[in-house]
Amino acid sequence: MTHARQQRIQVVAHRGASEEAPEHTLAAYRKAIEDGADALECDVRLTADGHLVCVHDRRVNRTSNGRGAVSALELAELAALDFGSWKTRASCRDAPRRDGLRRGDSRRHDFCGSDSWQDRDEEPDWEHRPEDREETSVLTLERLLELVADADRRVELAIETKHPTRWAGQVEERLLTLLKRFGLDAPTSPDRSQVRVMSFSARSLHRVRAASPTLPTVYLMQFVPPRLRDGRLPAGVGIAGPSIRIVRNHPAYVERLKRAGHQVHVWTVNEPEDVDLCVGLGVDAIITNRPGAVLRRLGR
Ligand code: G3P
Ligand code: CA
Repeated sequence: MTHARQQRIQVVAHRGASEEAPEHTLAAYRKAIEDGADALECDVRLTADGHLVCVHDRRVNRTSNGRGAVSALELAELAALDFGSWKTRASCRDAPRRDGLRRGDSRRHDFCGSDSWQDRDEEPDWEHRPEDREETSVLTLERLLELVADADRRVELAIETKHPTRWAGQVEERLLTLLKRFGLDAPTSPDRSQVRVMSFSARSLHRVRAASPTLPTVYLMQFVPPRLRDGRLPAGVGIAGPSIRIVRNHPAYVERLKRAGHQVHVWTVNEPEDVDLCVGLGVDAIITNRPGAVLRRLGR
């Protein structure tokens, strides 16, 4: 089943093509671009010496051969680590348990995917080559922006600020400084922007909007916020980012968001039936670890 005639949904590679290649590495983002993803998602954190790096967890333990909190390590220390070799079939089998998740928990797709993607018949074509150091080193946001700037087509970026309250505005300040360097901080209007900023923190999005009112912002939601059940979002935020769990359990909420005039970007959509559900509800973007498979499902 494909959806060739449906409206065009943006396909966003979550942490890169992170089912096939190690998340948040150049290898994963190159693969996502190669697969045809419209946009790349990344999480950003500040290092001890003030660099923004693309790492999801507070610590580097799960995705590298090192240990410790990103915020306690300097960029040079992170650069000495290998963020690629954990991504082997063996480590994938263990990853959910190492991270405290049970087998069968849908979040395990954040690590390895499952066998239930019926139309996925090929083996991953990413291969870990320790000699390609840069491909699996820690990725700075600056390097990711360069990759996007060098792409031979338009690729958008959805940047998520992680634990921004802890840094009292520094994450957003560094982010906007960096975007400015690439000429991406002040689009003429939100719908023309190549970059959007996402967060579970309304305060973080507020800081971004205060500094750059035309940069689009996405309010991420794990559950329907009790005070925003009617489809409103925090003041000035244009895009809703509900989890796939919200979409499955409360499809009427998605309709309310759409009726309120918001775009809806859903994460993390890895199963074919969830892609179909999102299409049926008319969501605007699907954030997935499997951009290639989702694009095929959409008939693109
Ligand atoms: O794209 C939003 C999604 O990434 C939020 O969850 O935990 O994967 O950062 P997480
Ligand atoms: Ca994220």
